[in-house]
Amino acid sequence: MDPVLLNDWHPVALSNRIEAGAMLAADLLETRVVLWRDSGGVLHAWEDRCPHRGTQLSMGTLHDDTLTCPYHGWSFGKEGRCTRIPALPDAPLKAQVAVYHVREQYGLVWVCLGTPAHAGPPAFPEFADDQLRKVWCGPYEVHSSGPRIVENFLDMAHFAFVHEGILGDKQQTVIPDYTVETFDDPEYGSGVWARQCYAFQPQASKAATGGSDIEYTYRVVRPLTAILTKHPPGSIREAIALLLQPLTETTTRVWIVMALNDFTSSDDALRAFQDTIFLQDQPILESQHPARLPLTPGAEVSVACDRMSLAYRGYLKQQNLHYGVLR
Ligand code: FES
Ligand SMILES: [Fe+2]
Repeated sequence: MDPVLLNDWHPVALSNRIEAGAMLAADLLETRVVLWRDSGGVLHAWEDRCPHRGTQLSMGTLHDDTLTCPYHGWSFGKEGRCTRIPALPDAPLKAQVAVYHVREQYGLVWVCLGTPAHAGPPAFPEFADDQLRKVWCGPYEVHSSGPRIVENFLDMAHFAFVHEGILGDKQQTVIPDYTVETFDDPEYGSGVWARQCYAFQPQASKAATGGSDIEYTYRVVRPLTAILTKHPPGSIREAIALLLQPLTETTTRVWIVMALNDFTSSDDALRAFQDTIFLQDQPILESQHPARLPLTPGAEVSVACDRMSLAYRGYLKQQNLHYGVLR
């Protein structure tokens, strides 16, 4: 397994979906994970696999902060240690379930399967802004690699074609110049960002009442995390975070957390707007071949306005990512 992703944090569930005394199965990097919340409200993430014969623990039961396997009834306590073997009550209790690092942030559950290389999930400071309303979209399950999905999120030249009438207009397909730089910032973290990106959008958001020129910034802060900010004229900045849960190299669950200025639309309407856009991207993403993002120079033809994509590819190389890419 790629150490870059193994040692990073990945979103796997909505926090509020797991109540005290409940379990939830999730997949991450070809590993089955069981999430469960104990009676004190503390969340646990374990490998969803009984060390006895490999059965899924999430098919079993959770009582009194003890998980019991559905196959032979072995029980496991809070630290993942076996506490009971019903078929042989005096047997030594050596079995131990693999236990992972888990955090709750931005309304999501984040898991690190390895040794965390970062203190926590990626920086998303807009989430802490009380002037912005938070809405969670997805997860969307896509048959493509995480890096292809991030690259699509950073791409503006497709708006006029894939999102015509919403994010783009076929009469205005030219992408004006924008700047791309690496950054390292105490608040925003580090990575690459594109700034002074301008696009005319017929309907930039659910609340938009007509077309407007929008200023965008995009920043990549981890191999599978990108955040865009939109700055509509006369309004405050909004942010949309694309947070990916890699299932395999070529299947990915996409979480989107929005920090918006729109306090009038319903949650459902805001989600429906994002669903519409994402469902337009999905068939394009699933058609791209190869599904893994090529990092080798010359594998695909690029033009000057693709330079944020190229900067992202360079960032992945520099981060030494191997999972979901071709190098
Ligand atoms: S497989 Fe879990 S108790 Fe036997
Ligand atoms: Fe798109």
